[in-house]
Amino acid sequence: MLDLKRQYQPLHQELLNALGSVLATQQFILGESVAAFERAAAAQLGVAHAIGCSSGTDALWLALAAAKIGPGQAVVTTPFSFFASTSAILRAGAQPLLADIDPATFNLNPSAVEAVLSSPQGAAVRAILPVHLYGQPADWTAFARIAKERGLKLIEDAAQAWGADWQGVKAGALGDAAAFSFYATKNLSAAGDAGMVTTNSEELAERVRMLRQHGMRRRYYHDETGWNARMDGFQGAILTVKLRYIDNWNQLRRTVARRYHALFHAAGLVETGPYPIHGIVLPHEVPSTHHVWHQYVIRTTRRDGLRQFLTERKIGSEIYYPVPLHLQAALKNLGYSEGSFPEAERAAREVLALPIFPELREDEQQTVVSAIAEFLS
Ligand SMILES: Cc1ncc(COP(=O)(O)O)c(C=O)c1O
Repeated sequence: MLDLKRQYQPLHQELLNALGSVLATQQFILGESVAAFERAAAAQLGVAHAIGCSSGTDALWLALAAAKIGPGQAVVTTPFSFFASTSAILRAGAQPLLADIDPATFNLNPSAVEAVLSSPQGAAVRAILPVHLYGQPADWTAFARIAKERGLKLIEDAAQAWGADWQGVKAGALGDAAAFSFYATKNLSAAGDAGMVTTNSEELAERVRMLRQHGMRRRYYHDETGWNARMDGFQGAILTVKLRYIDNWNQLRRTVARRYHALFHAAGLVETGPYPIHGIVLPHEVPSTHHVWHQYVIRTTRRDGLRQFLTERKIGSEIYYPVPLHLQAALKNLGYSEGSFPEAERAAREVLALPIFPELREDEQQTVVSAIAEFLS
């Protein structure tokens, strides 16, 4: 599914040197290596502020808490994402309201969001939290319009989308604030847990810095109940090195994705979506986006059988995500049930992520496609 050693080997010495320089300073929490990463990250994304933190989950919470979103307020998000997109809203004390996804992109559907916003809700809606799922930005033209019309904040869950853009504006610079994850499988990954909040707002940036350090602006004077959500120095050093390569890696991911498209078409397996019948539906890149292919996700009605077949042939695959958030045991009390979000539920039954990473070779992709052709024939 993912071979991180192929990325690591050519960088081995550079990474060791970077770690060595952190050891030399003995600054293990925040410090200059994190500050240097923050500066380079902000410049690369074209955003005023980038604040390193402990994980993508914490980044989401920091962004919400910095925007003063909390009890008695609601945030609209997608049921088809990683758990943290919703759990961070709960952790901030606010109520998650879910809206269904677009079946072609798997991203939050703006019309479904508008329907939620137009129906009476218990709590006042303060923000929309779209997720740039699989590395493709959500429909930002629509979300920017909705947010403007209704006076809402936009918080991006950009955990999967380092380097992606919407009409030339990078994910991370689109909303009021954005959250990134540098978890090991992400396009830009640390050597452990790490995350980042980005924003163009001076005020939000200042609040994120305060909240990631237990609400301190001055040492041992706590203005608010923040949390320990700091990035450690080793992660800052590793990420600064990898930041120099990420644009190239993302380009290579795009090449891998294009190759999959061509191989599947050549194998005669492709159906024009959004829903599969006997073959497969390929992932769709919206023309106004720059997709960074964190995942390459196909749809098929025979997903579980296909996955088993691939596993028997030692071909990696993964299901992101087998259970939509509204059907998770931990989120039962949100009050949704089977049938609440038919597109998310159908996607959860049909999606299959195939191996994708910058160093994936064409012969390996051919093996994946041939195995899928054999199964479907
Ligand atoms: C969409 C999404 N949001 C949030 C997160 C949380 O990030 P982390 O694992 O760094 O806490 C992840 C990744 O795991 C994710 O994929």
